Formats: sequence, structure tokens, C-alpha cells
Amino acid sequence: MEPQEYGLMFEVETAHWWYLGMEKITRATLNQWYSVNFNSSVLDAGCGTGAAMSTYLADYGHVTGIDVSPLALGFCRKRNLTSLALASVTNIPFPPESFDLVTSFDVLYEQAVRNDLAALDEFFRVLRPGGLTLLRLPAYDWLRGQHDLTIHTARRYTVPQVTQLLKDSGFQPLRVTYANTFLFPLALAKRLLERIFPPDPSSSDLSVNVGMLNGLFKHVLASEAFFVSRIGLPFGLSVIALARKPQTA
Ligand SMILES: C[S@@+](CC[C@H](N)C(=O)[O-])C[C@H]1O[C@@H](n2cnc3c(N)ncnc32)[C@H](O)[C@@H]1O
Repeated sequence: MEPQEYGLMFEVETAHWWYLGMEKITRATLNQWYSVNFNSSVLDAGCGTGAAMSTYLADYGHVTGIDVSPLALGFCRKRNLTSLALASVTNIPFPPESFDLVTSFDVLYEQAVRNDLAALDEFFRVLRPGGLTLLRLPAYDWLRGQHDLTIHTARRYTVPQVTQLLKDSGFQPLRVTYANTFLFPLALAKRLLERIFPPDPSSSDLSVNVGMLNGLFKHVLASEAFFVSRIGLPFGLSVIALARKPQTA
């Protein structure tokens, strides 16, 4: 990611409609499948500036974050987070079977992740048998836009691709679906317009201030939580995947 993107993320992620809506979707999906106990432990792989760790992930156990960027971990410390390690998702510095849940939100698509399958193999290794991984990834390579240049996208995914990657690492997929479906037409229109009127190369989707629509967009996205967690959605801007490490690997 471009360095300025970390500061922007830190500034907006506790109030921006996309993060708040995705929190509802994530909670609904975890609440459907994951049981917390007094010693549950969570790894947030590619934790960024730490918003998920410092807010809702703590409801699912003791959370540790890793990120390959010292800048990102610096922002995590500003949120008073201390359980952190500077490390790559392809070389996780914890012993096998250390965690009950590994989350990774919009990380595996990055150019800095040379091999997404190697990262999933690492998630599998550090999970206890029966543990869960929850991934969020950008959808459809044909939807690439200016924002993908800013965040160094190497690849965008489809549901069948993510399902296959999970199976290749030994995971049992529980729910692999698209999300951010209801606002898809707006996003598609924005991406198509960008092709006709290219934006400033340094611009980011996070810097788009939707003003009074922030609350509306948040509710629209959050209203997908039921569908994503229970049924799945047929298309969307993101792929959400929940998978289990079998009890007997
Ligand atoms: C788009 S941000 C997402 C951050 C956070 N997960 C969130 O949802 O806000 C992508 C993050 O992945 C991190 N990242 C990229 N490649 C990585 C790697 N190989 N290992 C660990 N983190 C990585 C980046 O530094 C950045 O913090």
C-alpha cells in the first residue's frame, strides 16, 4: 500500500460506512459459526492500523496482530494495542496450533503477498484443529480501478477461486460468498466513469467523502449481514470466506 494510505485508513476506519457495514457482516458470520471460550485466541493477519483489533475482534478472544508494515504497527500502538508482531502472513512467527481464529481482512490480494496459497498454508498451520479462518478479499479482476493502484492490488478474486484455494490448503469451506452487493451498481458506475475520466493517480476510495450518505450506505451494507452469514449473495465487490481446519487434519 502507498504510505499515505495507512494514515487515511487510521483516520476514517472507525467512522467510514464501509468499515462499519463490514463489521456487522463479520460479526454476523462469526456469531453463526464460532464459539468463544475464556481462553480463545485470535490472530489478525495483516492487521493494518488496528481498528478491527481494537474494536470488535476483542469480543472473540485475546487478539494478536501481525503486519508487514512498521507504519501500520505504529498506528496500532496509537490505539494502545501491544500484542503485535512485524511479520508476513507467509511466515507467521507462532508455533503450530496457537490460535482458534485467524482473520485476514483485505490482505491476500496485495502485491506484498507473493503467494496467497502459502499464506493460507500458514493460517492452517497456526490454527488449532477445529479452528476457523475468516477472509475478506476484493472481488473480480475486471473491477480493477484507480484505488487498486493505490493499494497495490496483485489480484482480485471470485468465489470459486477462493473456495479452491481454501481446499488446496486443507480447509473445509463453510461459507464463501460475495458481499457489498446492494451498492454494486453504484460502485460499477464509479469504476466505469473512472475509465472515461481518469482520477488523480494519488486518489483513494477512502478519501471520497460521501457526507450525509455515510449513514445510509452503512445501513445498506450492514443489511447484508443476514444474507452473507446465512445464505450467501450471488455477486458483490468483496468475497467473504469462512472455513474450518478439520479436527483431524
Ligand atoms: C488494505 S490493508 C487492510 C488492513 C486491515 N486488515 C483492515 O481490514 O483494515 C492491507 C494490509 O495488509 C498488510 N500486508 C500486505 N502484505 C502483507 C504480508 N505479506 N504480511 C502481512 N501483512 C501484509 C499491509 O501492510 C496492510 O496493512
